[in-house]
Amino acid sequence: MDKNQIIARLNWFYTLELNQVDLYITQSKKVADQYTRKVLERSAQIEEQHALNISAKLKELGAKPTLLGDVLGPLTGKIGGHVIPLVGLKNMLKANVMLEQKAMADYKKFISSLKGEKGLVDLLWTHLIDEDLHASWFESKAKELEMEPQ
Ligand SMILES: [Fe+2]
Ligand SMILES: [Fe+2]
Repeated sequence: MDKNQIIARLNWFYTLELNQVDLYITQSKKVADQYTRKVLERSAQIEEQHALNISAKLKELGAKPTLLGDVLGPLTGKIGGHVIPLVGLKNMLKANVMLEQKAMADYKKFISSLKGEKGLVDLLWTHLIDEDLHASWFESKAKELEMEPQ
C-alpha cells in the first residue's frame, strides 16, 4: 500500500469510528437497562479514542482527518438508536455484534495489506482487539436475553 492508499483507508476507519461513537451514544440514551447503558457509554469512549488515534496517525502522515459521511448505514441498515423500541434490545445487540465483526474483518484486512509500518500495525491491532471485546460482550448479553422467558 502506498501512502495515499493508507491515508484513504485511515480516513475510512476514522469515519467508521466516529459513526460508532454516535451510534453507541444514541443507543445508550434509549436503553433502560443500567448496565447495558454503561457498557454503551464506555464503548463510545473507546471508539472515540480509536478515532483520536487514527486522527493522530493521519496528521503524522501530513494528512487532514476527513469524514467520509455515513459508512454505517450501508453495513447495518437501520440500527440507529431511534429504532431500538421497534427492534428490541436483543436485536440491537445482535446488530452491534455484526458491526463490530465487520470492523474486525476490515482491521485484519488492513493489517495484512501493510508491509513494515510497525507503529501503525501495532495501533491497528489494539483497535482490533478492542472491537473483539465489544463484540464478545454484546454477543453474551444478547444470548442472556435469549434465555430469558419473554
Ligand atoms: Fe473502534
Ligand atoms: Fe468497537
